[in-house]
Amino acid sequence: MTKDEIIQKHKQYLFNCITTYFKDPLVIDHAKGQYVYDLDGRQYLDFLGGIVTISVGHTNEKVTAKIKEQIDRVQHTSTLFPTEAIVALAEKMAQITPGKLQKCFFTNSGTEANEVAVLTARISTGNYEVVALRHGYSGHSQLTKSLTGIHTWRKAGVIPYGIVHAPGPYCYRCPYALSYPSCDLHCAKDVEEVIKTSTCGAVAGMLVETIQGVGGVVVPPPGYFKIVANIVRNYGGLLISDEVQAGFGRTGKKWFAIEHWEVEPDFITCAKGMANGVPIGCTITRPEIADAYKGLTISTFGGNPVTCVAAKATIDLIEEERLMDNAHEVGAHFRQGLEALRERHAVIGDVRGMGLLQGIELVKDRKTKEPAPELVNQVLERLRANGLIVGKGGLYGNVVRMSPPLNISKADIDAALHILDKSVTEVV
Ligand SMILES: Cc1ncc(COP(=O)(O)O)c(C=O)c1O
Repeated sequence: MTKDEIIQKHKQYLFNCITTYFKDPLVIDHAKGQYVYDLDGRQYLDFLGGIVTISVGHTNEKVTAKIKEQIDRVQHTSTLFPTEAIVALAEKMAQITPGKLQKCFFTNSGTEANEVAVLTARISTGNYEVVALRHGYSGHSQLTKSLTGIHTWRKAGVIPYGIVHAPGPYCYRCPYALSYPSCDLHCAKDVEEVIKTSTCGAVAGMLVETIQGVGGVVVPPPGYFKIVANIVRNYGGLLISDEVQAGFGRTGKKWFAIEHWEVEPDFITCAKGMANGVPIGCTITRPEIADAYKGLTISTFGGNPVTCVAAKATIDLIEEERLMDNAHEVGAHFRQGLEALRERHAVIGDVRGMGLLQGIELVKDRKTKEPAPELVNQVLERLRANGLIVGKGGLYGNVVRMSPPLNISKADIDAALHILDKSVTEVV
């Protein structure tokens, strides 16, 4: 098919809500390592990675070799039959997650991972209400849309029954107009007030993204999660750490972002980067919580041997090649370069992130912080024209999100910084 045929059929045969980037959508034909290529063979440096999913580079041979081997052995079994692939991955997950998290429920996506966590928290605590955060993104199902704290992702008559939202730890636009550290972490402490005023006083838990990715790479301040975890537990609830974007070494040095805050969550949910682009979701929790979930359940494709092998191969590779260290070191280099760009361009109001999950927030005016979403659209178009693919996020759509593979080099970071500099200069 030609590019025009693909775009025309996409419009004709897919839901309109399945939006694509760019005025003239980019049809990706193939990919390798840190690059994607369009139908004309044009190369783009990929700093989005299929929405924070490509951890070890596109079509990484060490991962695809295991996938091919498994496809030829047995492709599908369902959860009714144990396989070596599912238990090997579950054992690995138990080894790399913090604290006493030991039991996994595998599904196909981050949405499902969050669904399983909330359902299990409700069953095991006997409580129903759940606290979520403003600016959070949790998925595309009814429950996870309700947990989401960004109106543009909550369309379609979502009824948020049993869910309350606490103001987010968004320091650049602090909901209390305070500043860290003199704020004394008011946003964390206020979760207690939210529970006392907006729930029955007992909760099943609180679901938090360690770093709010879709919300615009919002990084909570140090100490935030310790306070929040204590409050939630005092009201009978469990802490669900959504690591769908931030997990598997992306934030540098640690497997999971919550470890930077030195908190042991009751659940971790993950997907995306876990299997380098093969669809998988995982909810991991403590045995006594997991075992409270009684009754029949299946996930036909959850724990599929091919996806489990892909995830195990990806995790092994991150470990063997010490990519968490690379994410830390190269991430710091990236951050330094982005801070330097902030010095050069007044439209860059804030730079934030951890490791290789970084974002820049564009504003019309640094004093008023008026968001500049149109400018982000223009920058994205120029970046594409100049050969760099990035993401977009934030409540106002004014944050450029970047998440290159964990094995990216400093040279590639420098190339991306150069393109960013050039593209911002072209549009302001
Ligand atoms: C933090 C977070 N949680 C959950 C999800 C939902 O994951 P999926 O799109 O795999 O259903 C996403 C997707 O972007 C996410 O960023």
